[in-house]
Amino acid sequence: MKKYRFEYFASCPNGLEELLHTEILTLGAKTAKVHRGGVYFESFHEIALKVVLYSRVASRVFKYIQSFEMINEKDYYLEATEVKWETLMDLGHTFRLTTIFGDLPGEREEFRNSQFANLKLKDAIVDYFRHHEGERPSIDRDYPQVTFLARIDRGVEKPYMCTLMYDLCGEPLHMRGYSVNRTEAPIKENLAAGIIQLMRWNPETEGFIDAFCGSGTFVIEAALIAAKIPPSYLRMKKYLEKPGYHLWTFQNLPWLTEDKELQGHFEILIKQITKETEDGMAKLRDMRGRIIGSDIAEYAIHSAKDNLRKAGLDAMIDVHRGDALESTPPTEKSLFLSNPPYGERLEFGEEERLKALYKGIGDHWKKAYKGHRAGIFTGNLAMLKSVGLKTSKKHILFNGDIECRLAEYDLY
Ligand SMILES: C[S@@+](CC[C@H](N)C(=O)[O-])C[C@H]1O[C@@H](n2cnc3c(N)ncnc32)[C@H](O)[C@@H]1O
Repeated sequence: MKKYRFEYFASCPNGLEELLHTEILTLGAKTAKVHRGGVYFESFHEIALKVVLYSRVASRVFKYIQSFEMINEKDYYLEATEVKWETLMDLGHTFRLTTIFGDLPGEREEFRNSQFANLKLKDAIVDYFRHHEGERPSIDRDYPQVTFLARIDRGVEKPYMCTLMYDLCGEPLHMRGYSVNRTEAPIKENLAAGIIQLMRWNPETEGFIDAFCGSGTFVIEAALIAAKIPPSYLRMKKYLEKPGYHLWTFQNLPWLTEDKELQGHFEILIKQITKETEDGMAKLRDMRGRIIGSDIAEYAIHSAKDNLRKAGLDAMIDVHRGDALESTPPTEKSLFLSNPPYGERLEFGEEERLKALYKGIGDHWKKAYKGHRAGIFTGNLAMLKSVGLKTSKKHILFNGDIECRLAEYDLY
């Protein structure tokens, strides 16, 4: 029961919860608690707004609305029609819903599945508006103005409890806005940012190279971290170009629209982010050559260059075509951090080829990266053995549903 006193929940890729916890406390939350796949936290609204705009690893941020208990699926509908929906959205808003089951091991026989539960909640909202306002709001699965999340857990007085939240973000936060040209198997931006931080990369003392850079996600996130540019800077730029343009769902919610003080904080954060971006870009111009990327495929370099241009970083970050097994570190001390191919669809002979590639990485590090540090992020756990070097640390992470490893190496 206790966890529901938290007013906000920020979700993140599994394995990054501790990092997100630190981020949220650093941004000023009063208390925060790690949960699988995210962090519950309690804070002033302006801190939650900061989490939306400044967190590098969060996927979404949800605001708690209310909880209610119920006996079964039918009761879910009845209880949901008691919620004052007109205080949460306007009839003219389009909306989307997601119902998920929390910790209910083997005890959800009163519910068919999450889609059916979701349908009950949708019916409750639609019927509520029909009854009170004579019309129903519309659903929009792609670009809704309001998004609700309902989580069903075990109840106290009745068998089940629904916790209703709304999403403050809209498009997930990993969609920074620079990924305009994607190669195969790109890594999500917030996962990449988390991996760089798990590697404890220090941009002041270490250079950075991703020699399997694909569409450039690691190098772009590394540059943003080094320059302390907030991850929301491109959305903010878009917002400033078209004032009133809705880029986050919080802009539609009474949470912001009925809170003058919070609107004032938003205005301050807009100025702050603009200034931090300008300062960061200037810093990156001085850091030229310290963060680099390369890839063997011409099309990957093409895509990385498109993304760097969109990110406004093409003049500061070099990416070039080249074999990782011939790469050289950009600075005297560098971090080599890559997500080499891991063969999602292993065809005949592919496994042997991949093993040779991973062995080649280890052999090349021994020759060309003595005194540097390295990290390999891969979804093919067996391949790490082929690197043939002792890892100094391993982290378990999830790329969507795929269990992955981040292996750290100190290269002597
Ligand atoms: C899984 S993808 C990396 C995706 C990247 N992290 C992103 O976010 O777009 C692996 C990349 O390794 C590249 N690659 C494969 N063999 C290589 C080699 N020997 N040297 C350099 N790059 C190589 C592929 O062209 C591909 O772009």
